[in-house]
Amino acid sequence: MSDCNNKYGCIECIERVSKITHKGTKNKINFMKRYIGAWYNKVLRNGYEGVFFIDCMCNAGLYNDSGELFAGTSQEAMKSFLNQGNGAYSDKIFKILVNDIDSNRVLCQECVWNRCVSDIGAKANVLFDSKNKDVSDFLRTDAIVALREAEQNNYHVLLFYDPYNAKIDWNGLAPFLKSKKADIILTHFMSDPTRGINQAKTEEAKKKYSETYGLPFEKLVMESETINKTFFFRQRVKAQISKFTSKYVSYGPIFNSKNRVLYDIVLISRAEVSRDLLKRNLYLEYRDIQKEDDFTQGTLFAFESISPDDYNSQRAEGVSEKDYFYSPTHFAEVIYKHFKGQIVLNSTYNEYIYKHEVIPPNANRQIDTILKNQFHVTIVAKNKHTKGKYYDFREKRNE
Ligand SMILES: C[S@@+](CC[C@H](N)C(=O)[O-])C[C@H]1O[C@@H](n2cnc3c(N)ncnc32)[C@H](O)[C@@H]1O
Repeated sequence: MSDCNNKYGCIECIERVSKITHKGTKNKINFMKRYIGAWYNKVLRNGYEGVFFIDCMCNAGLYNDSGELFAGTSQEAMKSFLNQGNGAYSDKIFKILVNDIDSNRVLCQECVWNRCVSDIGAKANVLFDSKNKDVSDFLRTDAIVALREAEQNNYHVLLFYDPYNAKIDWNGLAPFLKSKKADIILTHFMSDPTRGINQAKTEEAKKKYSETYGLPFEKLVMESETINKTFFFRQRVKAQISKFTSKYVSYGPIFNSKNRVLYDIVLISRAEVSRDLLKRNLYLEYRDIQKEDDFTQGTLFAFESISPDDYNSQRAEGVSEKDYFYSPTHFAEVIYKHFKGQIVLNSTYNEYIYKHEVIPPNANRQIDTILKNQFHVTIVAKNKHTKGKYYDFREKRNE
């Protein structure tokens, strides 16, 4: 029994659970909350009999945010599953399996689950289980049993791998990377190697980097010196994933308050639509960036106060990470360059956005406004003369 006797929300609980120390944690949990809802709705409408959410490193299911309790990802999954689209899926199965190396955190998870059930009401088709193991052991035992169960019963798995550092057990993840019934979301803890790789002295630290990024340590250090580190480690993670699977890999960064990349959310899925879900839901977290864009000055790139670390010189455009992934002004610039001189049907335009690595479809209204006002693109709405909406990129932009 934990110190707080599992009285959810008591003073011991608030003092004992992890404090939210940076905004990025909330951004991540908010993203996961939205993504889990979008994922199970997509999956369950496409013939699956159930969904299985596995959080390999689940923490307590709640955090202390300046003295208030704030729900962690697993708690958001519990609530979302118990509410299950207002009862739309009573014939489907919802399973949650959580694991953490810290036994007190696992006790908190039990307590959080009991509280969610008492608040929302028990549902016979929503099942919860928890484990207390090292993640590598967990992946090879309980998680693999869950995967096989999902494969046999036509459930879809979302495995969440969310460490505190850049340690990724690729061999443990391999069955999930290969399975047709599993998607993975992992947080690639970028701020660990970008800051820590040159300080790594112990064999253990060197082994961690070498195994995560798939190169001998000395080579890793040498190569990481030659280009922007964020860019380099992101490429290494993609290379590691491609050793196991040809699934779609989509990603987007979560920032700390100084606009440095804290981690990338990396999503690995067989379904191309997963990229669309990731882009949409990450953009919702960062859409306020548009307010920071300086339209009146005609400046294309906001965040001019960014530190050199965040300035990704690898990109020909020389744009900050935050603008590259989340700024409608930057998206409009990319789109304008791509279609310059052409008349483009809406369907072609939408297909381009859908397939684009980072431009989110739900930024379309902001992008349209910027295309019109800054790039002098004519956007013709659907009417009886035009048959469909189209974009005219032939006009010259006023420099
Ligand atoms: C970033 S937190 C997870 C947050 C959680 N997924 C969420 O979104 O609410 C990382 C967790 O990993 C756990 N952890 C650290 N090393 C671990 C290991 N080797 N095996 C399992 N869990 C571990 C820590 O106890 C901590 O609770």
